[in-house]
Amino acid sequence: MSKASMVVDKDFRTAEIDKRIYGSFIEHLGRAVYNGIYEPGHPSADEDGFRKDVIELVKELGVPIVRYPGGNFVSNFFWEDSVGPKENRKPRLDLAWRTLETNEFGIDEFQKWCKKTDSQVMMAVNLGTRSTKDALNLLEYCNLDTDTTYAKMRREGGHKEPYNIKTWCMGNEMDGPWQVGHKPAAEYGLLAAETAKAMKIMDDSLEFVLCGSSNIMMPTFPEWERITLEEAYDYVNYVSLHQYYGNDAGDTADFLASTLDLEEFIHTVICTIDYVKAKKRSDKQINLSFDEWNVWYHTMKSDNEKMAREPWDRHPHLLEDHYNFEDALLVGLILITFLKHADRVRIACLAQLVNVIAPIMTEDDGPAWRQTIYYPFLQASKYGRGYALQCPLTGAVHDTSKHSDVSDVDATAVWNEEKKEVTVFAVNRSLTETVDFSCDLRSFGNVKVVKHTEMAGYNVNAENSAASDTAVAPKDSSDHSLDGGRLDVHFKPLSWNVIVCSAE
Ligand code: AHR
Repeated sequence: MSKASMVVDKDFRTAEIDKRIYGSFIEHLGRAVYNGIYEPGHPSADEDGFRKDVIELVKELGVPIVRYPGGNFVSNFFWEDSVGPKENRKPRLDLAWRTLETNEFGIDEFQKWCKKTDSQVMMAVNLGTRSTKDALNLLEYCNLDTDTTYAKMRREGGHKEPYNIKTWCMGNEMDGPWQVGHKPAAEYGLLAAETAKAMKIMDDSLEFVLCGSSNIMMPTFPEWERITLEEAYDYVNYVSLHQYYGNDAGDTADFLASTLDLEEFIHTVICTIDYVKAKKRSDKQINLSFDEWNVWYHTMKSDNEKMAREPWDRHPHLLEDHYNFEDALLVGLILITFLKHADRVRIACLAQLVNVIAPIMTEDDGPAWRQTIYYPFLQASKYGRGYALQCPLTGAVHDTSKHSDVSDVDATAVWNEEKKEVTVFAVNRSLTETVDFSCDLRSFGNVKVVKHTEMAGYNVNAENSAASDTAVAPKDSSDHSLDGGRLDVHFKPLSWNVIVCSAE
């Protein structure tokens, strides 16, 4: 048995957690929208054609913000196609995913759906094939109440109240050569700056996300961030980060070490932002919007073949990764990493939410169900609200095929002052060792364990299904002891652990 220990002190606050780190993402891709959140003929469909079973699961997850409508899709999105009477809406070719977009569901429907799920919209504008002018028109449509063309168009469509969408993404992955309308860094930086500047004149309550690198391996990283920020620093509030992980090699130990790369990614982006800040002698702090993250690899090869073979299908099955137990462990590790950086990571979007690399799956005309990754996200979203704490952690380390000094246990804690609850989140990455974990909670006075769950004991490849979406899920545990504010727990090999304690 190996050992680890952590000190949790309520005075060592890093930041108040921005609840938007539990955000997610819906793109017009595959069955995310059609037969995902929207399926008019479904037995659970409401008066708008929204699946109520999906709405219930999204509400259970507690997703405060949802990015829309893409992703790569946004770079050739003509928002005007997606509004107005449905019978007049024209289909268009979606060049990102080589499918046919019917435009049956658009800006107004998404706004309405977000209201029903208690989430805000995070809107992306098309800076691939379109311009500042089109972004301004969309903003006028969404947020203004003036007697001008686009605000009137919204009202005439039956949407009297402006949507007040606050957070806007300046395009998507503009560093990527695959992006329709990809641009060199300086050109994109200038376009993003001018677009944000003009949009802020129209509505000065807005905040903007500048496209950072599409992943840490991009050859232009981190020069892309430096150059674009030198153009846009004064006009934007966040830099985006995107990262997906995979285990093609079937190397669980190394896969679970991926959050070391994530740490490096976050650290480098913070350093680059702060370098430009210093260079500009600016007082303004720019933060991080990790607006696409997840495991994504199970279906990549077959999806690429399908898009090449059968283009221009309507809502085909694409990116429908079925997640297993080790994917859930990595999702838990990623959430722990975001909590550790809660002072700078202010928005994060699990990509995506329904059917497309998603925690929630649906069967056409059938049930909605929870994937393995649903559970760590649910528990972090539920118990990870309040103050992020800096928690010194010591313990055994191991090496993997591509990483050294990987801690057996990664863990952190969150203090919810309102509920007087402190929650410890921990993953034991070790494939073989149970870890004897000791946690010093003395600063919280007389603590009691009110909930202890563990997700453990599964084969790394175990999955959930429509027939059983609790096959791989957290189970209650009582394998802990408390003595004078010192919590001792055994973390099983390969486990996701959540311990909620009430404080005085
Ligand atoms: O989430 C799937 C895709 O991944 C998004 O469209 C794109 O932004 C990223 O490459």
